[in-house]
Amino acid sequence: MPESITITDNRTGKAVEIPITDGGVSSDAWRSLLPGLWFYDSGLTTTAMCESSITYLDGDEGILRYRGYPIEQLAEESTYLEVAYLLLKGELPNKEQYDAWSREVTHHTFIHENVRKRFLEGFHYDAHPMGMLVSAVAALSTFYLDAKDIYNAESREKQIVRLIAKMPTLAAAAHRFSVGMPFVYPDNELPFAANFLSMMWKVAEPRYEANPALTKAIDVLFILHADHEQNCSTTAMRTAGSAHADPYSSAAAACAALYGPRHGGANEAVVRMLTEIGSIDNVDAFIQGVKEGRGRLQGFGHRVYKNYDPRARIIKKVAYDVFEVTGKNPLLDIALKLEDAALKDDYFVSRKLYPNVDFYSGLIYQAMGFPVDMFPVLFAIPRISGWLAHWSELLDQDLKIVRPRQLYTGEGERKYVSIDQR
Ligand code: ACO
Repeated sequence: MPESITITDNRTGKAVEIPITDGGVSSDAWRSLLPGLWFYDSGLTTTAMCESSITYLDGDEGILRYRGYPIEQLAEESTYLEVAYLLLKGELPNKEQYDAWSREVTHHTFIHENVRKRFLEGFHYDAHPMGMLVSAVAALSTFYLDAKDIYNAESREKQIVRLIAKMPTLAAAAHRFSVGMPFVYPDNELPFAANFLSMMWKVAEPRYEANPALTKAIDVLFILHADHEQNCSTTAMRTAGSAHADPYSSAAAACAALYGPRHGGANEAVVRMLTEIGSIDNVDAFIQGVKEGRGRLQGFGHRVYKNYDPRARIIKKVAYDVFEVTGKNPLLDIALKLEDAALKDDYFVSRKLYPNVDFYSGLIYQAMGFPVDMFPVLFAIPRISGWLAHWSELLDQDLKIVRPRQLYTGEGERKYVSIDQR
């Protein structure tokens, strides 16, 4: 017998039985029984806004899969470009498809000279690179007018490739400008992650040869950050996309959401917290302070994961690979002691607070020389492929424009009073 729930309106005695499908119940049945009575769900914590076949997440079990493939296997065996293809097209590419896809993305890494010279260089000298990225992504829509043709398959594919290809170029350009270094053009002989590192760090050498262990680490971090189903920035992308905004404008909305410290800025908070703690001798006192309500243990806890974030486990391993090359980040010992102490402490255990993806990622970025301002930018580079997969999916499903309701709690009707009588 199919599972269902029954809702009864106790004012009228009317009841409606709603089947449970794919772990949810349709609001249409609720609305037919209770017209004008809104389902109050601040933060959309219990609302499924869409049906999606991109990413599966089970927060209690600590499971994350892209298109059915466990994140652990993808991090171990795949590349970011292959994962981007998987997210967007639903299947892993064969060799021929992968070569064509890499060629296409590589071909589009350059940005229009006006984006760099007139637009990016017009920012104030101390502009935040994430603020620059948000604006630059939006500005791209004015360079590619065919982007408005969102139901033209060829145009859609072209904008997707352009965005994936140009994000590292824009990100590196924003960094170089913010530290007063000249722009480095893409080197299209290099693979995706190595090309990004070249644009970040190249000085006067004819070719920047990134350390393979660091290139691999960046590629793995890009895989881990490529998608995370209906998070805040993806919801922003879907919301703007549902109004049929072009993909650049929609992605700018997503980038803006990611800029927020509650979303893309948590790894920066971890680095600041570890720096403030300063020594392993201060860890116990810090934990005690958190338990007494003086601040939070940054990089711990997650809205969805009530278990070890599977990405955190992979990142911890990557951290050791990176430190082999860069030397150990001095904050690592504090982080390890903090994690150990928290995982043994009933306060954190009883609240199911485990390390999340951000607990170790900041330490890796810092050891590789990225300034903390670049942390959300590093997150945005790969997340674009997830955002675009969701955008494409919502267009294919021809979803309604996102337009929630509210519970009005303001004044009733009142008469306008002229200013001299107030
Ligand atoms: N340190 C200490 N206590 C915590 C923490 C933490 N990091 N996180 C949650 N708690 C406690 C709360 O105080 C609360 O305790 P109470 O029941 O005694 O009041 C309980 O655990 C539940 O916390 P909520 O705030 O209800 O959990 P929510 O799901 O709303 O918050 C969040 C999730 C925002 C991620 C939270 O765990 C947090 O602030 N973590 C630190 C910041 C962080 O690492 N953010 C990165 C998230 S990952 C990402 O966005 C990529």
